[in-house]
Amino acid sequence: MSSSSLISLTNLRMGIETERGFKTLIKHSELELPAKTAVGLVGESGSGKTLTISSILGLIPFLPGVTNGELWINFKDHENVWHDGPWISGNGYDHHEYFTWQKRLNSRMKKYRGRTISIIFQRAKSSLNPFLKIKDQIYESLQMAGEGKDYLRAIEWLTDCGFKAGEAQRVAEQYPHQLSGGQAQRAVMAVTLSSQAEIIIADEPTTGLDAKLQVETLVFMKRLLDKFQKSAIIISHNLQTLAKFTDTCYVMYKGLTVEKGPTSAILQRGGRNHPYTQKLQGEVEIAGNIGQIVTADTPGCPYFPNCDIYKKISPEAQTRCRDILPPKVMLDNDHFVRCFAFER
Ligand SMILES: Nc1ncnc2c1ncn2[C@@H]1O[C@H](COP(=O)(O)OP(=O)(O)OP(=O)(O)O)[C@@H](O)[C@H]1O
Ligand code: SF4
Ligand SMILES: [Mg+2]
Repeated sequence: MSSSSLISLTNLRMGIETERGFKTLIKHSELELPAKTAVGLVGESGSGKTLTISSILGLIPFLPGVTNGELWINFKDHENVWHDGPWISGNGYDHHEYFTWQKRLNSRMKKYRGRTISIIFQRAKSSLNPFLKIKDQIYESLQMAGEGKDYLRAIEWLTDCGFKAGEAQRVAEQYPHQLSGGQAQRAVMAVTLSSQAEIIIADEPTTGLDAKLQVETLVFMKRLLDKFQKSAIIISHNLQTLAKFTDTCYVMYKGLTVEKGPTSAILQRGGRNHPYTQKLQGEVEIAGNIGQIVTADTPGCPYFPNCDIYKKISPEAQTRCRDILPPKVMLDNDHFVRCFAFER
């Protein structure tokens, strides 16, 4: 892990015990968040973006959950929390062991959630407490940051987040259901930023907003993240969205991180990208597998059934595509793809 990274997650593997046996949900995912940068996580629905984040937050709602992986965090207080293997999936795993580990991570991360890491969920209103006025929610955040219940500070945060004089005072007294989509989004930013958390995780923050409002919200969010020098993980279905405000992008497909690189390199067409990334480059948005469990139990490359490129490589390589997990191929120091076609 680089010493400047706040979060470093490697070799993540996750699975769930179902009536039909063990299912792998995350095959191999990773994420590194250097300080004061914005990192994007892109992929279609069901690719494992939210689960990857949930594993960092210690919020995993099923067993066995994480079966392999190493997480390092390096937050303000310079306390390192780590876990490592062997968390071996497959035959003979011990539920008790996983449960104990998940409980331990959950209780460890509890003290960081909201305080060091703030999360904006898919729909703005679901990030707000429906029973509390906006000002009370900002008070809670201010208290987390060690400040008092200060009305003027709450108004200041609302103003910083784009509410005009008069509107800020009105919104402060309102409940979330009284706000429009755009207002709720700005109120969420005020609640999130006023906790002075170092890291903001936004999980598809503009879902549910119309296209114009999506762009406005993202531009605005980017301005705030820069102004307050936050580190951020932004999740999206849409590569073009992430292009607007991330430095690095991770591309996920069916539980596998298929590519990571500087956002400019991920966006640049010309064939130096994973075949799935190339597909994303040509699409406004790929819906994916909404509402289905996407399992990652096949041994080889999960993109194999949809990939056109494997047909152009040697028969021996084609067999590898189907049967073996593609290793990382470095295209640059900070850019890799998991694809046999790039092996020299
Ligand atoms: N609590 C759960 N129980 C069972 N399966 C789950 C659970 N949470 C996620 N999964 C499954 O794990 C896979 C990855 O889910 P995840 O929510 O991480 O996808 P995602 O990339 O965030 O998708 P979306 O863009 O739709 O939010 C999916 O197949 C999903 O059905
Ligand atoms: S590893 Fe093979 S199947 Fe997977 S993306 Fe590359 S060429 Fe296609
Ligand atoms: Mg999700």
